[in-house]
Amino acid sequence: MLTLTLETERLLLRPVEERDLDVAIEMFTDPDVMQFLGGETMSIAEVREEMPTYTKRCAVGAIGIWCIEDRSSQEKLGSVFLLPLPIEKDDTDWDLVVGDQLPNAEIEIGYSLRKSVWGKGVATEAGKRLLQFAFDETALEEIVAVIDEGNLASQRVLEKIGLVSVGQRYAYDAECPGFAITRPQWLERNRSKSHV
Ligand SMILES: CC(C)(COP(=O)(O)OP(=O)(O)OC[C@H]1O[C@@H](n2cnc3c(N)ncnc32)[C@H](O)[C@@H]1OP(=O)(O)O)[C@@H](O)C(=O)NCCC(=O)NCCS
Repeated sequence: MLTLTLETERLLLRPVEERDLDVAIEMFTDPDVMQFLGGETMSIAEVREEMPTYTKRCAVGAIGIWCIEDRSSQEKLGSVFLLPLPIEKDDTDWDLVVGDQLPNAEIEIGYSLRKSVWGKGVATEAGKRLLQFAFDETALEEIVAVIDEGNLASQRVLEKIGLVSVGQRYAYDAECPGFAITRPQWLERNRSKSHV
């Protein structure tokens, strides 16, 4: 049985639910949060309409979105996800998030946080935990990520959790900087860390 509730020193990661509409609205209506997430803010009505989709999961729950909570205050801080990477489309293909098997697609890691909690290492802590989940608990052999050109905070998070630049690639129907980490790279990184 896959445990989908994940803990770190400061954070709790749990599958996102419709009751997380509040934090979703705060993030997706904020132009600063959306600057590198397609650029356009969403309306409250649009976020509300998308919530049932955001709670979709597949592969026995391994693929989907997690809500990030502060363990001590239970405050919702944002979200982190493992989802099929869209290539020709400019948004996640939720039709692939279905069934018990891993989707036949590259799996991307991504995150977004309420602006008030930026700069405290939350994305790094959550991202690292989700990678550990992916490589310890699922059969995934590689996790990828892409960023908008200029999203230096996101690039830095990816580097800190161990993803490596693969140069420009095509995703979200555009050329963009790509990153990836393979299972052997993850194991090597953790093996060498445990000997430091
Ligand atoms: C990107 C985002 C998730 C980062 O979250 P965070 O919790 O603030 O990230 P962390 O604190 O773990 O790490 C951020 C790192 O980026 C660095 N950084 C932040 N802004 C930067 C900038 N403009 N230029 C260079 N580095 C920057 C920080 O110094 C830190 O690195 P350090 O630990 O080496 O000092 C958050 O800013 C966010 O939600 N942005 C909007 C959504 C988004 O863009 N998501 C990613 C889409 S690919």
